Amino acid sequence: MHDDALSIPVDAAAAAALSAQGLRMAVVDPGDPAATRAWAEADARGFHDPARTDEDFADLSEDFPLQRSVGIYDDGGAEPAMPIATVTSWPAAMTVPGGEVDTWAISAVTVAPSHRRRGIARQMLESELRVAVAAGRPLAVLTVSEATIYRRYGFGPATWSTDFTVDVRRAGWLGAPTPGRIQLIGRDAAVEIGRTLLPEARRATVGDVEIVGHRFGRLFGAPSDSAEQRKRRFARYEDADGVVRGLVVYRVNENPQDFSDLSADVLQLVATTDDAYRALWQYLFELDLVGEVKGWLRAVDEPLRWLVQDSRRIRTTELREHLWVRVLDPVTALAARSYAGPGRLALRVEDPLGHADGVFTIDVDADGRAVVAAGEPSEPEGTPLLEVPVDVLGSLYFGGASAVALARAGRLAERTSGDAVLADRLLRSPVPPALMTWF
Ligand SMILES: CC(C)(COP(=O)(O)OP(=O)(O)OC[C@H]1O[C@@H](n2cnc3c(N)ncnc32)[C@H](O)[C@@H]1OP(=O)(O)O)[C@@H](O)C(=O)NCCC(=O)NCCS
Repeated sequence: MHDDALSIPVDAAAAAALSAQGLRMAVVDPGDPAATRAWAEADARGFHDPARTDEDFADLSEDFPLQRSVGIYDDGGAEPAMPIATVTSWPAAMTVPGGEVDTWAISAVTVAPSHRRRGIARQMLESELRVAVAAGRPLAVLTVSEATIYRRYGFGPATWSTDFTVDVRRAGWLGAPTPGRIQLIGRDAAVEIGRTLLPEARRATVGDVEIVGHRFGRLFGAPSDSAEQRKRRFARYEDADGVVRGLVVYRVNENPQDFSDLSADVLQLVATTDDAYRALWQYLFELDLVGEVKGWLRAVDEPLRWLVQDSRRIRTTELREHLWVRVLDPVTALAARSYAGPGRLALRVEDPLGHADGVFTIDVDADGRAVVAAGEPSEPEGTPLLEVPVDVLGSLYFGGASAVALARAGRLAERTSGDAVLADRLLRSPVPPALMTWF
């Protein structure tokens, strides 16, 4: 992938503000091994990860040409070549109802413990939003370590995910038989299959974001992490015509107390047909010696619940928001998706950073496609209107959050009672949006 956005120079406003604190903001040269290595090390420090090994760095180095990585340097400090803060970003496609939209994906936001709470993250985030606008991206997206950090920059949670544990010996498999077959394969074959299946599955999942570079490889166990590598198992499902339709990456964990009662972690399960989905879960249910199967980062509406006799044996251990969306250009963003229309909806967006401020009217035709215009609707009386802060617009963007719930919580205002119900009718996605990876 190459995108001119990656060569956008350092943001002048943020660089000036940081310079006033004696700090220097710079875009890292992807061709400079010393600079990229130092940046990668600072990123590891920021997340309290162990120091990077040469192998880790070899994994990560494929990312630098795909990303615009920024470091903040304290030239007068103890380690002038090591950034005291990092952020990276890249253009990524995201699935929306009826198609996809270009986003600006942001990651590796760190500030060294020695420099925290001086406004450095704020400078980096606000500059990333300006860079995204300069790159022509109508939305910025990220996943978070803490849900308390990003709302202040206009991001709102837009997808949710679950972790769950299945007592496979008691849940009782109910799924209909499938015509294909499951085969165990090695990592290289799984990676190869993943290159086709993951994008295909991503395009069918509203809220899922394209994944590239080391983050893709990591789904299969990072090549640098040999202990983890050796634990991962890979199986594929091919349909009756021999076409590969599904892939599972899992790990079986030791249980020194009882060798016949092991647990398995489902790290990735990708299926492009319902048969493949059923067959792969059935395979996991039937693993000998395994009593408990754990699903990680799964969708909130997993069909699995309908494939067992006793859905109480699927215990949700976590339900969390996952993808955060920041709308920068409402006209382009709202026109990129289709709607469960026809109908009309107006949104009055409040954006303290100015990018998305204004009133926007969405006119949806009988096919669910919209014309979006900045400005009040021509017939304001008959048009539902919501007043939303920009983070709430991100949450509503592809129907992951309910306008009715947000109205009840006082996070948005209706012009006329009932407008939120009408908004939900247009905005909802046929299945709850889901992001299937971290970035
Ligand atoms: C999160 C982190 C990047 C913040 O950096 P920072 O430079 O200290 O943040 P700033 O000084 O710019 O703070 C900006 C605002 O965010 C708030 N804030 C900062 N970190 C926060 C946190 N962890 N939780 C809640 N609020 C936070 C500040 O209080 C400040 O609030 P204000 O707008 O009301 O003044 C930094 O603490 C860090 O590196 N944490 C560990 C790595 C991590 O979790 N990164 C985020 C990955 S998604």
